[in-house]
Amino acid sequence: MLHQTPGLIEEIRSRFAHVDACPFQGPRIFFENAGGALTLNTVIDTSAKFAAIPDNQGRDNVASHALVDIINRAKADLSVFMNASEGQFFVGESGTELLFRMIRTACVNAPKGGKVIGSSIEHPASRSAARRWAEIASLDYVNVPHDDATGLVTAEDYAALMTPDVAVATILHASPVTGMGMDVAAIARVIRAVAPDCFIIVDGIQHAAHGQMDIDSYDVDGYAISPYKVFSRHGYGIAWISNRLTALPHDQLIDAPANGWEFGTRDTGSYAAMTDVVGYFDWLGGQVSEETDRRDRIRAAGHAIHAYETHLTNAMIKGTGNLPGLSDMDHITILAGADNPAREGLVSITVEGFPSADVVTRLNQQGIRTHTRKADHYSGNVLIPLGLNDCIRISLCHYNTEHEVAQLLAALKDMKL
Ligand SMILES: Cc1ncc(COP(=O)(O)O)c(C=O)c1O
Repeated sequence: MLHQTPGLIEEIRSRFAHVDACPFQGPRIFFENAGGALTLNTVIDTSAKFAAIPDNQGRDNVASHALVDIINRAKADLSVFMNASEGQFFVGESGTELLFRMIRTACVNAPKGGKVIGSSIEHPASRSAARRWAEIASLDYVNVPHDDATGLVTAEDYAALMTPDVAVATILHASPVTGMGMDVAAIARVIRAVAPDCFIIVDGIQHAAHGQMDIDSYDVDGYAISPYKVFSRHGYGIAWISNRLTALPHDQLIDAPANGWEFGTRDTGSYAAMTDVVGYFDWLGGQVSEETDRRDRIRAAGHAIHAYETHLTNAMIKGTGNLPGLSDMDHITILAGADNPAREGLVSITVEGFPSADVVTRLNQQGIRTHTRKADHYSGNVLIPLGLNDCIRISLCHYNTEHEVAQLLAALKDMKL
């Protein structure tokens, strides 16, 4: 476990900016990682370096060649990081924009009379794209209901509604409201068992920071992440697409190379920052394992992150030291079950007698950053069936500590009528 290696948590924390203080507020504990994770110091340096370079790609000069090499290196790094041995990576405006682009492309190329399948657990990024482009392309949309009690949708749930005419499928890897991770490979398997040529697009945005991306094992066609949610910075999204999805007719410049999916001039710094992210996982893997191969080290880092985050969420739910856990506090309700093995570093709660926004404000006043999820167009799909207007989302990452969890528990213990 990360925290059992002496000095490792401190080493990890030293690599991130604003780890224990907010430049606007002062000292604070950061439990708002699902809204945007902390940024690596290397990413900040790299971003400043490339922001200063005026040159464009595709010119015959030394700077231009260097920029193209850096982009290609980042793409190669991403394929190790996310274990994608075929297909390609490209950047777009955001994770949302890339999900729309992939889903739109798959829908408008689908055979007439086909169907699009997706689940009510999804973030509106993929659900909205699938619903909208299904309608425009005259495809029926099939909704797979998630289970309110577990905050999950399973392969069996998809299988029950699969038919051979399903041409496009969307899958959420991890929910930013319940915090639960779906079994993407199992869901893709049941989809392909009935509709082998279906284009399967995955929203990996919430899952990415919690380690263990393995595209080769999923058998899907598209996977989107938002770099600011995985230790890079704001301003862009990253998508991986299979060779099959690459080859579909898609938005691009007339007579441009058929495989190109990028729009306009690229920000080399956005790619270079992903090399920093991959370098970080590689470094972490070296700290927690004896692996010599880069992919194996990244995999080891992912396992270590998951195990440590589970340790932290267990401490939050079951208690730590002499502090009771959230499940011991009668005034607190935990969404999607206290003992849910699918949890990925996130605990959503309600506090009896307090609107969630008030709890978030009170915690902020004590220097603890969390976030409210409301039953709006982002989270209503999960909260409304539970009869909730809102909840408090506590989202952590592997740089958080048990001591921070204890401070949260102490604050919540006393927050009752
Ligand atoms: C699962 C999921 N999908 C999509 C998004 C939207 O991401 P972005 O705003 O980076 O496009 C989020 C953001 O919270 C998310 O958690």
